[in-house]
Amino acid sequence: MANAVHRIGVFTSGGDAPGMNAVIRSVVRTSIHMGIECVGIRRGYNGLVHGDFIPLDFDSVSGLSRRGGTMLYSARSTDFKTEEGQEKAVATCKLLGLDGVVGIGGDGTFRGLLELSRRGIAVVGVPGTIDNDIACSTYTIGFDTACNTALESIDKLRDTMQSHERCSVVEVMGRHAGHLALYVGVACGATCVLVPERELDFERDVIEPIRKSRLGGRTHFMVIVAEGVGSAYDVAKKITEATALDTRVTVLGHVQRGGAPTARDRVAATYMGYEAVRLLAEGKTNRVVCVQGDTYVDYDINEALEMKKGLDEQTYTVMRALTGVE
Ligand code: F6P
Repeated sequence: MANAVHRIGVFTSGGDAPGMNAVIRSVVRTSIHMGIECVGIRRGYNGLVHGDFIPLDFDSVSGLSRRGGTMLYSARSTDFKTEEGQEKAVATCKLLGLDGVVGIGGDGTFRGLLELSRRGIAVVGVPGTIDNDIACSTYTIGFDTACNTALESIDKLRDTMQSHERCSVVEVMGRHAGHLALYVGVACGATCVLVPERELDFERDVIEPIRKSRLGGRTHFMVIVAEGVGSAYDVAKKITEATALDTRVTVLGHVQRGGAPTARDRVAATYMGYEAVRLLAEGKTNRVVCVQGDTYVDYDINEALEMKKGLDEQTYTVMRALTGVE
């Protein structure tokens, strides 16, 4: 069957995530395999608005799956938010002869794809964000690497906290979502984990677990705070006031967005890149490539954007049980 597209563009947008490069590699090589040309759009939607692009061939993506960051750069474009910017982006697609576009990113990226699709460009989104907050997909590219990066630092922090019998308050990324905090918290055996999805009762959620842990003979404590909960410094201050513990704050920050992707992220990225090109080649548009358990599926972008992703209840229940919170 003939391909529905002949030349496609690929770009990364929003906050970068480890594994984005592996998606780019997969999109390019799958395209070549299917007889489709591929162009890299640089700096997210800004590249479409301003015509910033590079041709991509088999060799130009060699060795890319192990590299963090994104070779196409990423940005949150304000220019594309205007009607004029969107018209310019479509003009760039027409000029380059792009009949399809793959956008790698989060919700904001998918909303942008809808604007392109309303103007006649076939679009497919691939979920890439360390926040794992895309509702239609149980997994987003970069999450596993970010969890492991945070974990490595927390394990090191534990050593020094243990030596000095201190309480460590670690802030992990997640402005609106606590998935990263929760998984990291379970993985490191945290004393407690604070996430933006749950109303905080400081006495019940923080002080009680610390007291129980202390009574059980522990002399150092690990508190994981998702960025969206508020300042880790405020949390530390309150802990010291209530318990007289010596606290130290570590904000892990953007280190969580970098580094070589884990095997899980490389494989997910490779599958998703393949699926994105396959969908475009089959004439599909307005789709997001997702994973449900072990199965790769796709959703309508509008539907995907309407879905809400709650915290993983099972993991949350287990975390609370293990930290002794009622
Ligand atoms: O979207 C991913 C994310 O890492 C959030 O958790 C965080 O709040 C945000 O990006 C920070 O992004 P930036 O510093 O690039 O604006």
